[in-house]
Amino acid sequence: AVPQREQWTGQVGFILSALGSAVGLGNIWRFPGVAYESGGGAFLIPYVVALITAGIPILFLDYAIGHRFRGSVPLALKRLGGKLGEGLGWFQVAICVFISIYYTAVLAWSSSYFVFSFDLRWGDDTAGFFTGDYLQTAASPFTLDFVPAVMIPLAIAWIVTLGILAAGVVKGIQRANIIFIPLLIVGFLILVVYALTLPGAMDGLNAFFTPDFAALADPNVWIAAYGQIFFSLSVAFGIMITYSSYRRRRSNMTGAGLVVAFGNSSFELLAGIGVFATLGFFAFQQGVGIAELEGLTGVGLSFMTFPAIVSQMPGGAWFGALFFGSLTLAGLTSLISILEVVIASLRDKFGWTRRNAVLGFGGILAVISLVLFGTTSGLTALDTIDAWSNQLGIVASAVGMTIVVMWVRRKGPELARHLSAVSTFKVGILWQIFTSVLAPLVLGYMLIAKIVDFLQNGYEGYDTWYLWAAGWGSLLIMLVAAFVLPQLRWRHDPEKFEVWP
Ligand code: PHE
Ligand code: NA
Repeated sequence: AVPQREQWTGQVGFILSALGSAVGLGNIWRFPGVAYESGGGAFLIPYVVALITAGIPILFLDYAIGHRFRGSVPLALKRLGGKLGEGLGWFQVAICVFISIYYTAVLAWSSSYFVFSFDLRWGDDTAGFFTGDYLQTAASPFTLDFVPAVMIPLAIAWIVTLGILAAGVVKGIQRANIIFIPLLIVGFLILVVYALTLPGAMDGLNAFFTPDFAALADPNVWIAAYGQIFFSLSVAFGIMITYSSYRRRRSNMTGAGLVVAFGNSSFELLAGIGVFATLGFFAFQQGVGIAELEGLTGVGLSFMTFPAIVSQMPGGAWFGALFFGSLTLAGLTSLISILEVVIASLRDKFGWTRRNAVLGFGGILAVISLVLFGTTSGLTALDTIDAWSNQLGIVASAVGMTIVVMWVRRKGPELARHLSAVSTFKVGILWQIFTSVLAPLVLGYMLIAKIVDFLQNGYEGYDTWYLWAAGWGSLLIMLVAAFVLPQLRWRHDPEKFEVWP
C-alpha cells in the first residue's frame, strides 16, 4: 500500500516552517550589505519591484505546483510535465544537495562563534583568527588535514539536523520551527533594540538609508535586487514545492504566501537596521566614517567584522551570543528545509522509508561535508560552490520552471484557478503575466549576464582550473542529475500516489 502523505497540523505550522526556511543567513548577512552598496534607501525601490513582479509570483507558483500535484519536486513536476518536468525537479534537488553541504559548515561556524563570544577568543586580529587559528585555511585548496575545532561542531550540526528530519514533518520539522522561529524573532529584536542605543548608531542608519537615486540607473542594482529577493524567499529551489505538498486539501495558499513573503522582508529590513546601527557604533569607536569600513557582507561581516565589534562593546559577550545564536537558528531552520527537498524526493522515487533516506543519504552528505569543510580546504570550496549554485543554479532553475510550466505545458490558467480556489487573495491574469513573461525575461537576462561575467572575469581571483572543477563542475553534476534520474524506474507508480482531486 502507498503510505499516506505527511501533513502539517495546520496553517501556523506551515507558515512558521516556510518562514523558517525563508529567514536565513541571506537576511542577516547578505541583505544589509547588498542594500548599502546598491543605492542605500533608494535600493528599496528595485527591491519592492522585484518582490512584487518576481518574488511573490514565483513563490505562488511553487506553492501551486507543490499543492496541486502533491509530491516532492520530481514527483510533482513529473505529474505536471512528464519526464521534462521530472528532470527539472532533479536539477533543483541537486542544487539543494550542493547547498546543504556548505550551508551546514556556516551553521557550524556560527555555533562555534556563539561559544567564542563568551571568552572573546578571537583576540584583536579577528580576520587572522578566523581563517588562520580557527579554519586553518591552507594556501592550497586541496590539502585535507582535519581541523577538529570545525569538525566537531560540524558533526553536531549534521546530527541535530538529521535527527529533526528523521522525526518527520510534524514531530520534527514543524516542532523545530514552532520553537526556533519565535525564539529567533525575540532574540534578534533584543539585539536590534540594543544596537540602536549604541553611540554612532544613528550615523549607521543614515549611511544605510540615505538614498542614492543615481544608482537606479545602473542595471546591476536591479539585478542585485532580483538576486536578493530570489535567494531570500527560497524560491525555485524546490523547497516551497516540497513544503506545500504537505498542506491540507483546502488551504489558503496565497494568504499564507503573503505572510511569509512580507515576514521575510520585514526580518531583512530589521537586520539592515541592526547591522548598520552596529557598524555605526564601530565606525564611531574608530573615529572613521562608515564608508571607510570593510567587510560589510557575508562571511567577512559575520566572522571578521562582528567579532571585532563584539570585543569593543559594553556587554559584548551577550551581544555576540545573540548575534551568533540568531545566525545559528536562522541557518538551522533553512538547512532543514533544504534537506527535506532531498529526503522527500528520494522517498517518492525509490520508496525508501524516511529513516532510511535520512540516515542513508543524509549520512553520505554529512561525510562529504565533513571531508570538505572539516578540513583545511574549507573556505575556497564554499565560496565557489555558493556562487555557482546561487547565482547560476537557482536562476537557471527558475527560468526553466517558468518556461516549462507556463509555456511548454501551459498550466498557467489551471494553477491560477487552483491558487484562488479557497484563498483570501485571488490571482488571475496579472499573476500569469508576471510568471510567464516578466520573470523569465528578467531572470534570463540575469542568467546570461552572470555566465558571461564568470567566463570573462572569473571569481574572486581564484585559479581558472579551480573554477572549472568546483564551480562549473558542480553545475555539470546538476545537469547530469537532471538527465539521468528521470531514466530510472519509479519504485511506486507515480500515478498511483494519492493526489488531491
Ligand atoms: N532563504 C534563505 C536566506 O535568506 C536561504 C536559503 C537558501 C534557504 C536555500 C533555503 C535554501 O538565507
Ligand atoms: Na530570506
